[in-house]
Amino acid sequence: MALLTTHINLAIVALQNDDIIGLPTETVYGLAGNMYSEKAIKKIFETKKRPFYNPLIVHIKNIDYLDVVAQNIPAKALLLAQHFWPGPLTLLLDKRADVPNIVTADKPTVAVRIPSHPMALALLQQLNFPLAAPSANPFTTISSTTAQHVKEYFDKDLDIILDGGECTKGIESTIVGFTGDDVIIYRLGAITETDLEKIVGEVSIYIGQDDKPIAPGMLIKHYSPKTKTVLLENDVNIQLNNLANKKIGALVFNKKIDDERIVEQEILSEASNLEEAAKNLYAALHRLDKSKVDIILIALLPNEGIGKSINDRLRKAVN
Ligand code: TXA
Ligand code: MG
Repeated sequence: MALLTTHINLAIVALQNDDIIGLPTETVYGLAGNMYSEKAIKKIFETKKRPFYNPLIVHIKNIDYLDVVAQNIPAKALLLAQHFWPGPLTLLLDKRADVPNIVTADKPTVAVRIPSHPMALALLQQLNFPLAAPSANPFTTISSTTAQHVKEYFDKDLDIILDGGECTKGIESTIVGFTGDDVIIYRLGAITETDLEKIVGEVSIYIGQDDKPIAPGMLIKHYSPKTKTVLLENDVNIQLNNLANKKIGALVFNKKIDDERIVEQEILSEASNLEEAAKNLYAALHRLDKSKVDIILIALLPNEGIGKSINDRLRKAVN
């Protein structure tokens, strides 16, 4: 049974003993272990049922630590780090040789960030190793934005889940890589394209092949409910007619769809605020998934700012 706790000391002891914990960050909860502990890293992959080809993000405590895990750091990477850290930006950089290959899935790069959640930072401050952590959800399922979500997934597998409350951002970090002078977004996330462009000028968004993703956050099925999930179609009436006899749920942006055939609805932000929508996104999907509807209809959000990142997740939630 997993203990939900705010006592960082319990987490420190567990991590020093090669165990893994549930870790709150400002984006989503992580499944964290000592980056240098092969035992802990293996346990992360096994617990998450994550294939070993899919690398983990390394969480460090301060910018000086960058040189411990990465090398040949491009000037633009440093600019972004100085501007957005601690915060929801992950940089793909050349790895140093002593970063274990199991963490980076044998890639020459390491993904690294400094989280801004006070509990995560306080914990990292007291450790003398970085924390490797993927999101705290089984492979391809909905991410966790509360300690309770983590407990529902991993009650049997974890002893300690640090309870840092509800994640303030609610969507994963933005992953950025560098090729020559180019800055490339490999995963849309809590920091927008426009935020990045204010600091380093033009950036591009990587369009991957789905069978061979560079950042497998780009795998086509991801963030998915157990319940059958489809996008809301333009002609709602025809779509609902085709679903006669089904219990229907819907995830919508700012107001309910006025149709009594939909029995469960989740509104992401009545105020039409995209940041609020991001914060509510995964909890709303979890609730719909538990509500025993037969099918979840998903309405895409305005495709701007963080709405673009949310839409990326919503398209992949379709199963
Ligand atoms: O906000 C976040 O980034 C959260 C919190 C816990 O920090 N973490 C997270 O981890 O979302 P995860 O494992 O669910 O997603 C990390 C993504 C994966 O798609 C992985 O393939 C990619 O980052 N990644 C990690 N290391 C990489 C590398 N060296 N090269 C390319 N992609 C990498
Ligand atoms: Mg994930």
